[in-house]
Amino acid sequence: MNIPAFDLERYFAKYEFTAKYLLSCSDCQTMPVRELVGMASETTRRLWDNLALGYTETMGHPLLRRAIADLHKGLGPENTLVVVPEEGIFLLMNSLLKAGDHVVCISPAYQSLHEIARAMGCEVSDWVLDETDAWAPNLDALERLLRPETKLVVVNFPHNPTGSVPGPGFLTSLYALLEERGIYLLSDEMYRFLEPGDAPVLVPACQEYSRAVTLGGLSKAFGLPGLRLGWLVTRDADLLHRMSRLKDYTTICHSAPSEVLGVMALENREAIIARQKGLVWDNLKILDSFFRTHQDFFQCAVPKGGSMCFPRVTGVDSTLAFCEKLVEDTGIMVAPSAMFRFGDHHVRFGFGRRDFPRVLEILSHYISTHFK
Ligand SMILES: Cc1ncc(COP(=O)(O)O)c(C=O)c1O
Repeated sequence: MNIPAFDLERYFAKYEFTAKYLLSCSDCQTMPVRELVGMASETTRRLWDNLALGYTETMGHPLLRRAIADLHKGLGPENTLVVVPEEGIFLLMNSLLKAGDHVVCISPAYQSLHEIARAMGCEVSDWVLDETDAWAPNLDALERLLRPETKLVVVNFPHNPTGSVPGPGFLTSLYALLEERGIYLLSDEMYRFLEPGDAPVLVPACQEYSRAVTLGGLSKAFGLPGLRLGWLVTRDADLLHRMSRLKDYTTICHSAPSEVLGVMALENREAIIARQKGLVWDNLKILDSFFRTHQDFFQCAVPKGGSMCFPRVTGVDSTLAFCEKLVEDTGIMVAPSAMFRFGDHHVRFGFGRRDFPRVLEILSHYISTHFK
């Protein structure tokens, strides 16, 4: 496969382990293994202590598949496939699409959500979120992009990088539109569970629409990206079977320790998520006051979910140049919108980490002293 570089991942590869401060991470605060193991039920703890490091089941550990199914009302373990999250996108696209198919993908987007299809010879149309309407998706705009040969629509809510979450009724109308035309939906729900305050948790697309495949995982809201653990969930048994067969050529099966740690995380979902949400929404208040202080420098719609926002930087001509100078001068890494191939006027902030207030204060001081 001839595929271009994954710009955002290459940018992180350059800075994630060398920059002093990270202000662009999409994942929430992580925890050490001992803390997660300390939360485990007695049964799962026993499973961990006696775990043999052999190959595991291609579809995933039965207990893990059960725990994943429990996140999707009306679906069972037989509707689930355990994957590495990034691998899930690859498996879905390579199982469903062929050269010449038309795909519509939300934009801006995590690059693999459109790049894999494009590299397979599909034509991909960008369904651009409306910045003037707090990055809301517009169904009329989608309808104008659909064609008779459209095979797949790709969405991601809560959205990376803008924090967009559609309003009530939007998803129902989306499913009706796709159903009418027999179009599949990849719903990337990696940031599910990071809805604000008491807002209801996003209802997974696979629950509501038979041609939908939900991608979920433990990397973001749970803060456990090192487990490399995610899942695909769908009612389409044939598609699930094809994706699992393709997995024989990617990872064959998941990592045994990671699967058991994943069961522990899902067993303790409520406690872990409550802590992450507390941190995210405390940080968001600080971010809001930061944007008010620097309103001549940033314009930002309040994110409706997730752990990121995507402000327009009105105070500089090029965010790529700004971010490079910023990391050089202060050690703060911020990802510019060029890494999303989405112009040169935005940056991505991630506010799921404990050190966020301190790093934001350094950035605030930098802007005040260099740009005022
Ligand atoms: C929207 C989205 N989907 C999928 C992924 C892939 O997740 P992972 O890095 O855990 O494989 C990411 C990672 O940033 C993401 O933001």
